[in-house]
Amino acid sequence: MSLNALFPVDVVVMAAGKGTRMKSRLPKVLQRLAGVPLVQHVLNTAAQLNARSAVVITGHGADQVEPLLLAPGQALAVQCVRQEPQLGTGHAVQQAVPALADDGVVVILSGDVPLTQAGTLQALIVQCGGDKLALLTLDMADPTGYGRIVREGDAVKAIVEHKDATDAQRQIQEVYSGIMAVPAKQLKGWLSRIDNQNAQGEYYLTDVVKLAVADGLPVVAHKIIDALQVAGVNSPVQLVELERAHQLRQANRLMEQGVRLKDPARFDLRGQLDCAQDVEIDVNCVFEGQVSLGEGVKIGANCVIANCTIAAGAVIHPFTHIDGEKLGVSVGEGALIGPFARLRPGAQLGAEVHIGNFVEVKNSTMAKGAKANHLAYLGDATVGERVNYGAGSITANYDGANKHRTVIEADVHIGSNCVLVAPITIGAGGTVGGGSTLTKSTEPGSLSVARGKQVSIANWARPQKKPKT
Ligand code: UD1
Ligand code: MG
Repeated sequence: MSLNALFPVDVVVMAAGKGTRMKSRLPKVLQRLAGVPLVQHVLNTAAQLNARSAVVITGHGADQVEPLLLAPGQALAVQCVRQEPQLGTGHAVQQAVPALADDGVVVILSGDVPLTQAGTLQALIVQCGGDKLALLTLDMADPTGYGRIVREGDAVKAIVEHKDATDAQRQIQEVYSGIMAVPAKQLKGWLSRIDNQNAQGEYYLTDVVKLAVADGLPVVAHKIIDALQVAGVNSPVQLVELERAHQLRQANRLMEQGVRLKDPARFDLRGQLDCAQDVEIDVNCVFEGQVSLGEGVKIGANCVIANCTIAAGAVIHPFTHIDGEKLGVSVGEGALIGPFARLRPGAQLGAEVHIGNFVEVKNSTMAKGAKANHLAYLGDATVGERVNYGAGSITANYDGANKHRTVIEADVHIGSNCVLVAPITIGAGGTVGGGSTLTKSTEPGSLSVARGKQVSIANWARPQKKPKT
């Protein structure tokens, strides 16, 4: 559905508040939910509305908040406007007025309400229709602290803040969520007329409702039942409540697609996870960034997997850590990884590769069937098909100033505890004896041994302790 053909949508995000109850040096709107700053969740939702612009009101912690908002990669054109001092929500939106065009509908959001769905806001915009004031509301069993929706019959007449409400008004369970859609032109007029004659001495945004009523402009309420969508974060406890609720929703969505999670309560996704059919994920796994799992992939318990593509049939055993960061990691079909393996950026593993416990692979390609099963390091290496890389062996890829490549051609067998000093090439089919430190390339098919020659002294008498006298 594209409403924006009818009228442009501009978003205002209030993010100037202090968030005292977080008891953190980090501004509240930068606290993370599912790995993403709260205010970024709000902007991501706004981007789904195809909004024309977003104006973010900053204040407390603006020096930290603004660089995130203005960083390249925002899907939306973001403008920051400072509100100093903070004199209330009405005063906050007043700061945005010069940045707002007259022809749009303004959707007002809060930087600390991360889980609103775009569809909900679309429905609110439809209610606004370009010429009405539309409020997002919901019924609350305990509405304490919230602004109450005061109606006469069905018609909305005002929002009364809890602190200003009469006892009778405090019985009202329908509350204002903090989110509204409103024609910009009218909004600007009302904002110029609000005052701070109220219990908190603040300029209330919510006072625009009675001004709209006085002007004869229709006020409509779009009532939802999903409280999570309008829940704000004020404390660490509320943050974790939203985190778990959000994670559970993500887990349920994946299970509906067929993914088999051992326990949706012990699953964390902080990014995007794409799964083909018959993927199994054991408990306590964390997925970050962009992860894609092919058909039949199995992820063991306690894995952390980020920015990685895992092909069909691969098995990631427990306690494996994979992070492709910017370069990515790819794991080939039927590969076996872990337990206790570490794949770092640029690890590109072919089909049926085996990586065992305490093996680290960085910026290296391993062709089909190559194996490094125990206690090893492969950095800046090109490893051929069927190579067997022994326990305790490493590529010495760094000379203190520069990184160099190690090439291990197909069918090579590297014994245990070898050091391959790069740059170096081990020729196809060659064998390197255990304990060798190689500094020179080797010929295909050769055996290379580079270590102290063994000496055995026959009938060697071990020193004896002198008997005590
Ligand atoms: C507001 C509403 C209330 C509603 C509730 C829903 C008003 C007057 N009241 O109350 O009707 O039920 O939200 O959660 O709007 N902010 C600024 N600058 C300011 C003040 C606030 O940027 O000067 C920001 C805050 O950081 C926050 C948002 O605006 O993100 C809402 O402010 P908050 O103080 O939480 O408003 P409430 O008193 O909860
Ligand atoms: Mg609040």
